[in-house]
Amino acid sequence: MATALSETIAVRLTRSIDQRAERLKPQDKRESTYKEAFAQSAATTNYDGELEGSAKHPPAAYPHYLPYWDDVTYPPLEPFEAIEHGKDADPTFPNLLAGAHVPDLTANIGAEVQGVQISKLNKAGKDELALFVAKKKVVAFRNQDLADLPIQQALDFAEYYGPSHIHQASGAPQGFPKVHLIHRSADDTTAHDFFQERTNSITWHSDVSFEMQPPGTTFLYLLDGPTAGGDTLFGNMVEAYNRLSPEFQKRLHGLRAIHSGHEQAADARARGSVVRREPVANVHPLVRTHPATGEKALYVNPQFTRRIVGLKKEESDYLLKFLYDHIALCADLQARVKWEKGTVICWDNRVTAHTAILDWQDGQRRHLARLMPQAERPYETPFDEWKR
Ligand SMILES: [Fe+2]
Repeated sequence: MATALSETIAVRLTRSIDQRAERLKPQDKRESTYKEAFAQSAATTNYDGELEGSAKHPPAAYPHYLPYWDDVTYPPLEPFEAIEHGKDADPTFPNLLAGAHVPDLTANIGAEVQGVQISKLNKAGKDELALFVAKKKVVAFRNQDLADLPIQQALDFAEYYGPSHIHQASGAPQGFPKVHLIHRSADDTTAHDFFQERTNSITWHSDVSFEMQPPGTTFLYLLDGPTAGGDTLFGNMVEAYNRLSPEFQKRLHGLRAIHSGHEQAADARARGSVVRREPVANVHPLVRTHPATGEKALYVNPQFTRRIVGLKKEESDYLLKFLYDHIALCADLQARVKWEKGTVICWDNRVTAHTAILDWQDGQRRHLARLMPQAERPYETPFDEWKR
């Protein structure tokens, strides 16, 4: 009798353990706490609904920009000599801004430009765009035709600023692997699912900072968007650096940190998506200098920076946490940019941090394309060279 009872308890216990095991979620198996609010893959893309539409939603406005994930892999990115076009620019911006309406977004970061078609700029105008964006950090160009051009033409425009980055885990339009897509299908539930596990969607970062030569002047344009929400938040990393005391600034100089793309790749694999290029990690200075303006900017972010070289873990964690909190809390150095049809937001990834905001109702499509010319390998100039 006692033996039978023990067996019953043992069976129940085993079942209970099995049920717990069955409740393991994909995120439990991931290798780190990597946070990605916009996890996408072929499995999250409703191609029929996007192409055909439904009773609730029209079809995608730009179906040739829908993301596809295939098994094609790409070789490592090649080092190249970057050309900084902002250095050649007229600082009064006659070719870029003549006749344009250019209100500032806030006192410390950002501008909006009406009355300029960036795809039609001459060489001098393109140079001025690089410098203007480096100075303003983020610029919303309204009523643009970039989304309506043939994709190759849009890529050619962006590649004036440097060779295109190929993202390690992004879906891309068929035939255009250099275009990075941000896409949520109509009726997608990933936002709802995300908030079952996380309290907020904020992921401050500079794009793919783990690359040896991360992007500089960057273009992101709207294809389809929700009626409200889905704004993008940008922070001025030059002013975030300037806000620190000279003694603290001096201490940061000379420090370098490891930035890693391995966790993003592992996250993609864990949710059944593809990795198109073997992930890399690179060491960059905590404070980098902009080649055109000479400004110094904080260059660390919680999404990709892992640790400060030469410090013990607790020391590195402590200093990085202070910098991450500083970046996130400086709302007076931030601008929340709203998307409209025809908007191209252009920012300089060397001197800004940004985060998407996952706040709109499930059920509305959001679809954007990003063109990301690579820039120089981050470098810093000596502390005492910097004169404000
Ligand atoms: Fe980003």
